[in-house]
Amino acid sequence: MSEHRPLVFAHRGGGGDELPEHTLGAYLQALEDGVDGLECDVRLTRDGHLVCVHDRRLDRTSNGRGRVSTKTLAELDSLDFGSWHPGYPVDEEPLPDLTRLLTLDRLLEAVRGSGRQVRLLIETKHPSRYGAEVERRVVRALRRHGLAEPRPDDPVRVTVMSFAALALRRIRAQAPAIPTVYLVEILPPGVGVSRGRLPFGARIAGPGVALVRSRPGLIPAIRAAGHEAYVWTVNDEADLDLVLKHEVDGVITDRPRFVLDRLAKM
Ligand code: G3P
Ligand code: CA
Repeated sequence: MSEHRPLVFAHRGGGGDELPEHTLGAYLQALEDGVDGLECDVRLTRDGHLVCVHDRRLDRTSNGRGRVSTKTLAELDSLDFGSWHPGYPVDEEPLPDLTRLLTLDRLLEAVRGSGRQVRLLIETKHPSRYGAEVERRVVRALRRHGLAEPRPDDPVRVTVMSFAALALRRIRAQAPAIPTVYLVEILPPGVGVSRGRLPFGARIAGPGVALVRSRPGLIPAIRAAGHEAYVWTVNDEADLDLVLKHEVDGVITDRPRFVLDRLAKM
């Protein structure tokens, strides 16, 4: 195995089986564990706030019901986003960091406040349903936190990711200096990703690990075209071995401690 060390990103906070996803407590724990970066999904509330929730509906990850997009921020703020999780410590006092809704603003504040070097991957969910509003709000949030025009000395670096090429185009139009990741689960027809071509100036390809398994030529093609590759979601030995063999640039995982331990032993 070579000396190459990929960046390690905590997927949805990286709590996996231990901590509830997309909670501040999970993200802070991942930073404490020594990850290079954090991955976060964002969706719009009815009143136009960006919240860190993966699913379209609230049912799986909170005590609420219904679609995120039909609720206001105040309604979502009254819900519990942690107790559903098997790893939630039932015997302890309520832990706000593990139960409170996380918004993009709260996450950006926490990342800034941590004083650490952090790479934040923001994934916009379903941009086409809301016109350009999701991307507009992301760029506005980045501006508020001084992150829309990256500076080399800034410890915080943001990259925007999407499965939708349209979202990448909108980010590029509004904040051309923000790097973007084109996520792919199945190779899209006509885009040329299998030959390493990415749409709308995307710098990084984000293939799912199942795709990397089934297409051994994909990572070499991406690299030959001058792009980086961040692979998701790498949670076991076999997949980690595979992506290390390919010398990918980033590993997105629900189990950051497992990945960091393996890299430390190399
Ligand atoms: O990092 C990309 C990955 O998060 C995409 O899948 O469904 O977990 O958002 P999903
Ligand atoms: Ca995601």
